Amino acid sequence: MENLRPQPPHVIFLPFPAQGHVKPLLKLAELLSHASFHVTFINSEYIHHRLLPSIDIDAFHSRFPNFRFLSIPDGLPPHQPRALEDLLPSIGSATVAALRQLLVSDNLSRATTCIIADGIMPSSAVTAGEEFGIPVLAFRTFSACCTWTNFHLSKLIEEGEVPFQDKDMDKLVTCIPGLENILRRRDLPSICRVENVGDPILEFFIKEGRAMLRASALILNTFDELEAPMLSKLASFFSKIYTIGPLHALSNVRINGDRSPLASTTGILWKEDQGCITWLDSRPSESVVFVSFGSIVKFTHDQMLEFWHGLVNSGKPFLWVIRPDSIMGGDGSSGQLLMDLQERTKGKGLIVSWAPQEQVLAHRAVGGFLTHGGWNSIMESTQAGVPMICWPAISDQQVNSRFVSEVWRVGLDMKDTCERSIVEKMVRDLMEAKRVEIMKVMGVVAKQAEESVKEGGSSYRNLDTLIQDISSMTT
Ligand code: UDX
Repeated sequence: MENLRPQPPHVIFLPFPAQGHVKPLLKLAELLSHASFHVTFINSEYIHHRLLPSIDIDAFHSRFPNFRFLSIPDGLPPHQPRALEDLLPSIGSATVAALRQLLVSDNLSRATTCIIADGIMPSSAVTAGEEFGIPVLAFRTFSACCTWTNFHLSKLIEEGEVPFQDKDMDKLVTCIPGLENILRRRDLPSICRVENVGDPILEFFIKEGRAMLRASALILNTFDELEAPMLSKLASFFSKIYTIGPLHALSNVRINGDRSPLASTTGILWKEDQGCITWLDSRPSESVVFVSFGSIVKFTHDQMLEFWHGLVNSGKPFLWVIRPDSIMGGDGSSGQLLMDLQERTKGKGLIVSWAPQEQVLAHRAVGGFLTHGGWNSIMESTQAGVPMICWPAISDQQVNSRFVSEVWRVGLDMKDTCERSIVEKMVRDLMEAKRVEIMKVMGVVAKQAEESVKEGGSSYRNLDTLIQDISSMTT
């Protein structure tokens, strides 16, 4: 007799190939798999070959039986480093070609309920989705405030704001509704710091922003209580917005709450140094500054030294993540500098190449976070109640750091400067002089974050709605 039981929904995930993108999309994929969806998670080959060895695949599949990983080319030769300026121009056409092929040859198109595509490059998924009649939801891994700002890139050009006409970086930018009194030129996404409007990366973001408007819904790793004004602005572009952040905490509540084995996806592309947790165990509460600049930012030797001296001069112990690829310069000099810093840090702090960041931020010994202001880091720090100093380098980080200091008031903004005296002062301010004031606000915001992911909280409910809405696409 024919089996008439309805098939569970099948969702294809298409993340942009970088740690800060793969991680949140994987968390959501796990959550949907946990809700009995079938999931096909498509990484670039480059990411796939780094990610899979870090996962205990048998344990993963016993936890998520209907979850499979596939890989497709990203358009670059295998051994070329994945610099953003090389990747962005190549990835769109490579992805759409590979996705079309998969949808046809793997017979995936008939079985697919929807595609959840990374909002940084939704055009490939939207193009393929429109061809095959598959709905596409865009998961933007940025904040709502930066997502809203990015939707105004063309307007910034039309109004003559970008490229900047003079060097006054403190001039307020007044043509983005809702942000008239908040963003200065220096707070715009770094892609606005261009010489001319034909800049390929700026064009990439404008084109992909337009494609995002063709998606049937927007998913954001944020929570309503934090970004309500920006979310209501975005609602004029999207009929459906699912805010499901802080996603790492929602995932911990919903997947681990049933006492199932932990999902094995925290340290995605680098091996975590668990020794730093033991080091933290022996420190007093809220005494340590955690320093981590995410997965992409790179530093000159001078910048490394300014940070190091500033941290040491502040007198606060620090735990600093320095990725092996994060110091610029070949000829072995970066390795030498790293070894020197490690040696000179003994007794003052600890340098590791990659940390279990969520665990570190949740550790009682950590009192402050010197961060680049990547959105995952801000969500993780906010949920852990750890105040921040933001030193934004690229992309959305300029907008995020402005909101951290001026709108949410849960930290300080150290934008566009890298001097030891300023690093020292900011660390002292965060850990001493301004601590009471900042912690008062942080306490409220952290509580809101915690409530949002609890059963009945805004993000918890929004995930349920997302699950129901995707399920209803199959009927
Ligand atoms: C960048 C952007 O700036 C970010 O806003 C965007 O959403 C994604 O691309 P990235 O530089 O990787 O991301 O920063 P961030 O978003 O903060 O993500 C870094 C992730 O790596 C975090 O989830 C963090 O927990 C993790 N991490 C970082 C570790 O697990 N260990 C570390 O030692 C450092």
